[in-house]
Amino acid sequence: MEIIIWKNEFSVGVAELDAQHKKLLAMINRLIADQKELTDPKMIADLLMEMTDYAEVHFRAEEHLMTEYGYESKDQHTVSHQAFIDKTRSFLSAGEVGPNILSTALLDFLGKWLINHILTEDMKYKPFFQSKEQK
Ligand SMILES: [Fe+2]
Repeated sequence: MEIIIWKNEFSVGVAELDAQHKKLLAMINRLIADQKELTDPKMIADLLMEMTDYAEVHFRAEEHLMTEYGYESKDQHTVSHQAFIDKTRSFLSAGEVGPNILSTALLDFLGKWLINHILTEDMKYKPFFQSKEQK
């Protein structure tokens, strides 16, 4: 998995959410970039937990806006968020992390999930959120 470079096409049109996506991406990129140097299982687990905690903060912010704006696919979207959190936590408990292992499967999952989620599911709310923000 290569580190992921932010592109304009990742923008969901809400500055706060873009900033959170960028931070999440930076946290995942750090794991990808430092894959070989990260050999302390506790540190790997801590970084992953920090990323997962931040993902939850971001997901709640997105879901909050969905509630506020009355977005009809909110429940379905929330299920997708929860699946990411559950899967990431399952990697942590399934021994994919350390000793001395940050598995390729895990890094692939994190990087691909985030980009795929932004480009497919988050993009669905973009025009809807933008129409609400302009009011
Ligand atoms: Fe989302």
